[in-house]
Amino acid sequence: MNLDDIYRETILDHNQSPRNYGHLEHPTKSVGLLNPTCGDQIQLELAINEGRIQDIRFSGQGCSISMASASMLTEAIKGKTIDEALALTSNFKNFVTGGQSSVSLGDLEALHGVSQFPSRVKCATLAHNALEKAMTDSAT
Ligand code: FES
Repeated sequence: MNLDDIYRETILDHNQSPRNYGHLEHPTKSVGLLNPTCGDQIQLELAINEGRIQDIRFSGQGCSISMASASMLTEAIKGKTIDEALALTSNFKNFVTGGQSSVSLGDLEALHGVSQFPSRVKCATLAHNALEKAMTDSAT
């Protein structure tokens, strides 16, 4: 099995068994974001306590890349501070547009191939943009 196969398996695994899919009973933040190019939408619910993401769920409809990326993101940021989570999304966005990441991205590294397909970058970053929106949108 080469590295590309491992990446493919990782994406497939998150699609078949999405982590943290569903709803929180008492979210402190909830945000939805639409990918205008395809109409797919993702919803994030977060339970934040003293600046730390205690719990997170996602739901919605999307292509396999957007769903896998959301699953990987929730797994990567659960238990992290808001600043750490935002640093991760910013590094991931850099990573999928051909740049380097200065933080460990965990399973999200499996999406590196997206950088060769600019039209799929919006899929891979949908959940990440939703997280940024949740953190900057005081109305949520
Ligand atoms: Fe809609 Fe990927 S095609 S999010």
